[in-house]
Amino acid sequence: MQKELLKIENLTKTFLIKSRMYEKKQSLTAVDDVSITLFKGETFGLVGESGCGKSTLAKLILRLIEPTSGQILYNGDNILKLSKRGMKRVRKDMQIIFQDPQASLNPRMSIGQTVSEGLGVHKICSTRKERVDRTKELLNLVGIHEQSLNMYPHEFSGGQRQRVGIARALSVNPMLIIADEPVSALDVSIQAQILNLLKDLQEEFDLTYLFISHDLRVVEYLSDRVGVMYLGKMMELADSKSLYKQPLHPYSTALLSAVPSIAVEGKKKRIILKGDVPSPINPPRGCIFHPRCQYAKETCKEIVPELREIKNGHFSACMLAEDIFLV
Ligand SMILES: Nc1ncnc2c1ncn2[C@@H]1O[C@H](COP(=O)(O)OP(=O)(O)OP(=O)(O)O)[C@@H](O)[C@H]1O
Ligand SMILES: [Mg+2]
Repeated sequence: MQKELLKIENLTKTFLIKSRMYEKKQSLTAVDDVSITLFKGETFGLVGESGCGKSTLAKLILRLIEPTSGQILYNGDNILKLSKRGMKRVRKDMQIIFQDPQASLNPRMSIGQTVSEGLGVHKICSTRKERVDRTKELLNLVGIHEQSLNMYPHEFSGGQRQRVGIARALSVNPMLIIADEPVSALDVSIQAQILNLLKDLQEEFDLTYLFISHDLRVVEYLSDRVGVMYLGKMMELADSKSLYKQPLHPYSTALLSAVPSIAVEGKKKRIILKGDVPSPINPPRGCIFHPRCQYAKETCKEIVPELREIKNGHFSACMLAEDIFLV
């Protein structure tokens, strides 16, 4: 049986924001009642348009921000209840790779200092020699020449900087890596190199990935399972093969139809969604997707659909899923 590494239950984050137009603060729910389980060694891909809450979910898992409600279990422990010391241990296990390697590396720190910082903080190496040797080993692992140790981020290309970011994440022997749009800022040719590097490292170190991207092809290439988010909610969650072959939510169908190279069963033409993504400050009633959905019925305007299992391991938050997709 697969081992559960991370279990998120009913996680919600509501921000209170000031607006010039209104005197009272307004609430914006960026992550709304999201539950997912990550199994050890798998890659879980998280997709959805800009602003749907992907990065907020990542920050919640790392406890960079605190949730409004819900639970986060890591190896069975509720990390929201951990002390500072307990959390330090979990932080070592969970590492993040950011979208923009330029912004995520300190320009005043050499590559060697950047990669070796965690080795000291988490007492992984005790002597300077051990630290230098381990840093060289890590740089070699991600395809950066070990003689670059004393160079600075600005002396590297975007792809190389992202490799340094990966080496930094790996330095503390993590179990889980959250990669938030790790290749979006890179050229397509470099993207493939970084994705392959991530795949190789996963195999070598039995890593678990939460891989966030708005690029459906990139997610398909890397993920075992995929979750599709819309306005803070999980709309569909399935095995990658199953989702890409036959999505069971009108939102995912529309997203996939926009990528010409993805061959969804029975796909005819591109589905152009009506209107824009609504504001998360004042989301639609009922199913949040209903104003843009070509299949919406009266009930969709009233009832909030649950994410439910439609086929084996394939979940959809559309109450009409069977009627639309399984006839
Ligand atoms: N600190 C904050 N205070 C107020 N609102 C926030 C805060 N952080 C995020 N939000 C809002 O929460 C929503 C989700 O943002 P988030 O950054 O998680 O989206 P995302 O899916 O990562 O988008 P992108 O693909 O553009 O990175 C957005 O409406 C955003 O404006
Ligand atoms: Mg983001």
